[in-house]
Amino acid sequence: MATATVEENPLLEGLTLRRRPDPCILVIFGASGDLTSRKLMPALYSLAYRRLLPEKFAVVGAARSDEGDDEFRERMKQAVQEHARDPFREDVWETLASGMHYATLDFADAGREDELQELLIRLDGERGTNGNRLFYFAVPPVAIGTLIDELGKRRDSLKGWVRLVIEKPFGHDLDSAQQLNTQIQKHFFENEVFRIDHYLGKETVQNMLALRFANGIFEPIWNRQFIDHVQITVAESIGIEGRAGYYESAGAIRDIFQNHLLQLVAITAMEPPIDFTADSVRNEKVKVLKSMHTPGPKHVVRGQYGPGFVEGVEVVGYREEAGVDPASMTDTYVAAKLFVDNWRWADTPFYVRMGKRLARRETTIAIQFKRAPHPPFADGGEGLRPNVLLIHVQPNEGISLAVGAKVPGAGMTIRTVHMDFLYGGAFREGLPDAYERLILDAMLGDATLFTRADEIEEQWALVDAIVAFWKRDRPPFPNYAAGTWGPVAADELVHRDGRSWRRH
Ligand code: BG6
Repeated sequence: MATATVEENPLLEGLTLRRRPDPCILVIFGASGDLTSRKLMPALYSLAYRRLLPEKFAVVGAARSDEGDDEFRERMKQAVQEHARDPFREDVWETLASGMHYATLDFADAGREDELQELLIRLDGERGTNGNRLFYFAVPPVAIGTLIDELGKRRDSLKGWVRLVIEKPFGHDLDSAQQLNTQIQKHFFENEVFRIDHYLGKETVQNMLALRFANGIFEPIWNRQFIDHVQITVAESIGIEGRAGYYESAGAIRDIFQNHLLQLVAITAMEPPIDFTADSVRNEKVKVLKSMHTPGPKHVVRGQYGPGFVEGVEVVGYREEAGVDPASMTDTYVAAKLFVDNWRWADTPFYVRMGKRLARRETTIAIQFKRAPHPPFADGGEGLRPNVLLIHVQPNEGISLAVGAKVPGAGMTIRTVHMDFLYGGAFREGLPDAYERLILDAMLGDATLFTRADEIEEQWALVDAIVAFWKRDRPPFPNYAAGTWGPVAADELVHRDGRSWRRH
């Protein structure tokens, strides 16, 4: 593919400083799955659209089902037309599709692995990919082990670099995650492993790092002396979207809390890293995770949605979803009060909540500062709320700061107003999808936005402890109606402390 200049292609602005990845073959295991059509292929297309892919490149989709190259390309083309954020351009698609192949692979059958290797070696010759491999595991954890062993056995014969991108869920609990890590480490170095948490690929999540560490004004007040508490909300209006098989054994605690939510906490609470290398950033996040103690049963609320109306549409309850046990005790909502026990945050609660079928899709991090110590106004500052710095992770990506301001006119009436920064207003280009960033980073060998082995194990340790005490009680599920903001007990969790969830 030819390189373009910013003048030729304004979409390259801000991205031209990036290195172009080495020639390589991307092999996607689990190519017949939803993730490949909804996320990976559209992301690859957008990278191709911006000419950010390596010049010499090939994609091999591998899955159990029988499919020919042409069928695969056609299915992927439709996926791109349906899900990509950029307009469909035949020439861009053709460049990408010309290096696209499909391999049928029974993950337990080593013979088929040999066929895959032959295909890859042939493609190295045809496409000039130099033996470099990016293996993307979009398969359930049980399928990863065998594949890793098979690849491990063959790694000495590889001429170029090898990198593994591993989708979540990474294990089901601490034990299985440790086993998987051990199995991977038998054959591969940690810097060859890229465990995905796609929230880290979101621009707004990275902007939290920019906000904190590129500005002198926030760090001095980013601590227990000035911050009253932090609220993190990961609300989804969608249900489980036909994924009962996975979700029944995961629940919100493993699906969101274990990964996305804990990463948001870590990024909010971490100390400034000495630089932005993978290890410096991840060392700081691990310290946060290590300093979080398990919240007691009183500090965790779980919920499950019943029938209701979401954005005006009637929806069934979780137990009525296809494939779900009618007496299921799986959680679709979790709220918790967490503490990061270190000098910066001691006694500062992090209230977190996440759930499916809530009233609206909204992911936010709200930093609530302490009240002004003494309002000298005649009305006692009645209309004045504490300052809140609100990071809108999605949708309406941006940052807003709630400050007290004088209402125009006679007298001194104070009201809270918002100073807003919206991505859409400040930058020309639309936000890239998290997967674009992450696939590119993995090709470049930059693991900063991926989870390290010890980090993922700390996350599981916290989840295991919560799940252990859940075994002892049976909440009256369903305990919230679809389309609401979750169970009443979640409100009580914060009301007990004289606080309330941020209003929507
Ligand atoms: C995935 C979860 O990791 O994240 C899904 O498995 C969830 O259940 C999704 O819907 C949310 O991602 P996003 O980017 O839409 O917030």
